[in-house]
Amino acid sequence: MSILRIVCSPRGRASESYRLSQCIVDRIAGAAPGRPPAVMDIDANALLHVDPDYAAALSSPLDPAAATLGRGALAQSAGLIQSLQDARHLVIATPMHNFTVPSSLKAWIDHVVRVRHTFRITPEGKIGNLADRPVYVAISSGGEFSGDGAQRQPDFLTPYLRHVLGTIGLADVTFFSVEGTARGPAALAAARAKAEADIAAHAFGARAIAA
Ligand SMILES: Cc1cc2nc3c(=O)[nH]c(=O)nc-3n(C[C@H](O)[C@H](O)[C@H](O)COP(=O)(O)O)c2cc1C
Repeated sequence: MSILRIVCSPRGRASESYRLSQCIVDRIAGAAPGRPPAVMDIDANALLHVDPDYAAALSSPLDPAAATLGRGALAQSAGLIQSLQDARHLVIATPMHNFTVPSSLKAWIDHVVRVRHTFRITPEGKIGNLADRPVYVAISSGGEFSGDGAQRQPDFLTPYLRHVLGTIGLADVTFFSVEGTARGPAALAAARAKAEADIAAHAFGARAIAA
């Protein structure tokens, strides 16, 4: 039983999205039988961007040359995919940046969404290779992006993440969000309370763990 958390905010553990993700981690731990699960944090801001060897490997029908596998982005990708395969739960703590995922999270995605490793290409399209497992996404945003129409900005974050995680086989994705962090202390307190109530109402223990 383990939790892999991808920390995407440039503010790291001081961030609102990390704070929200900790509420989720605590609930997963509370629902788990026996010992508390191990939590492994990965700082997405510390990841390499993809490099020439990696781009060549993904653009070729052949496996990359052995000499390139142990270095640069190819080596980092292998480690990140292994940590994802090993996790029973995935938690992504992320702010919204320019209506979508921050570049740090996009870097992690570019490392783990890897042809012949986490998905395969078939005549029917891309098919995921990973065993499904619960994914929880803790989002923080300066304004609102969901709800009853009061939001004034598009949301390219949640549909994109749902699609790209589904591409590698992760279809069990649940989003929680603290929205309107830029609207002052009262709005922030209300947004936190709503998000925490949503988390409290979620049946974490009832989720099947396939990994
Ligand atoms: C580069 C950048 C782009 C941002 N773009 C958006 C945006 O498109 N929509 C929004 O609601 N907030 C946007 N924000 C505000 C953050 O989402 C907000 O401050 C959030 O609470 C930060 O969460 P964190 O503490 O987890 O980093 C942006 C912030 C930065 C730094």
